[in-house]
Amino acid sequence: MKILVATEKPFAAVAVDGIRQVIEEAGYELELLEKYTDRKELLDAVATADGLIVRSDKVDAEVIAAGKNLKVIVRAGAGYDNIDLAAATEAGICVENTPGQNSNAVAELVFGMAVMAARNMMDGTSGSELKDKNIGIHAFGQVGRNVARIAKGFGMNVTALDPYCPDSAMEEAGVKPVHSVEELYGQNKFVSLHIPATAETKGSIGYDLITRMPKGGVLINTARKEVIDEAGLRKALEERQDLKYVADIKPDNAAELTELFGNRVFFTPKKMGAQTSEANINAGIAAARQSVAFLRDGIDRFRVNK
Ligand code: 3PG
Repeated sequence: MKILVATEKPFAAVAVDGIRQVIEEAGYELELLEKYTDRKELLDAVATADGLIVRSDKVDAEVIAAGKNLKVIVRAGAGYDNIDLAAATEAGICVENTPGQNSNAVAELVFGMAVMAARNMMDGTSGSELKDKNIGIHAFGQVGRNVARIAKGFGMNVTALDPYCPDSAMEEAGVKPVHSVEELYGQNKFVSLHIPATAETKGSIGYDLITRMPKGGVLINTARKEVIDEAGLRKALEERQDLKYVADIKPDNAAELTELFGNRVFFTPKKMGAQTSEANINAGIAAARQSVAFLRDGIDRFRVNK
């Protein structure tokens, strides 16, 4: 049995060592395809793989069709919008993610970016503190819960919106539940996005919501660029000179936004929320264990397709 680890953005070397150990101890073979620039490399490598481990690498119908022996695809991370679930299901392939394994890393980056925005992108001018400010968490999943925990350490007032999470779970974490996006954006100077990119959420954060934010509002996006209505964001930033947008995923109009709004916007060069050795080890090794558990024992606890 061969497990292909295909990561255009590689894991830390220490994580790869751990992945190798899990796969080889099971008596399987690891094939490593890192930093590939040509899609053909992935199509060729997947042809002989029984299992595939990826990060944000695009696994579309063509990759799935090329993986003639594929039985399991594990997304080492949370969001699986990069994988064509319907094509995988059709081909009888199990798709899994590794929920929670990289969430602390992403949550810490939220505060790196929040502090940076509050301190005017470290430009030497007088900024503000996070203490006693309101932060709204849009989706209270694994990352959102870590954001809440850290926000409390900063002395922030924490609110969250998540129709899939009972109020009691938020209240136990010392978080005030709200039940509409209007409340969430209207009440919080900082809003941190943690919604997945789905048909319902794509383009759902736009002008109307962003301009509801209080004076000096900072929208932090470590989730997915697709959830933002980019034209609406641009219009909001144009109209409201006090607003800032900081994101771990460059919008398509990043160059234009930077030119127009200077240091009121910030984008990491490459998505780096989960790019820590700890997150790589956690998610990478979990993905290796889950792949082996599926191939050897048919265990599919983290399956996301039916
Ligand atoms: C995730 O969905 O787990 C994060 O967005 C991290 O993605 P990455 O593995 O591509 O860094």
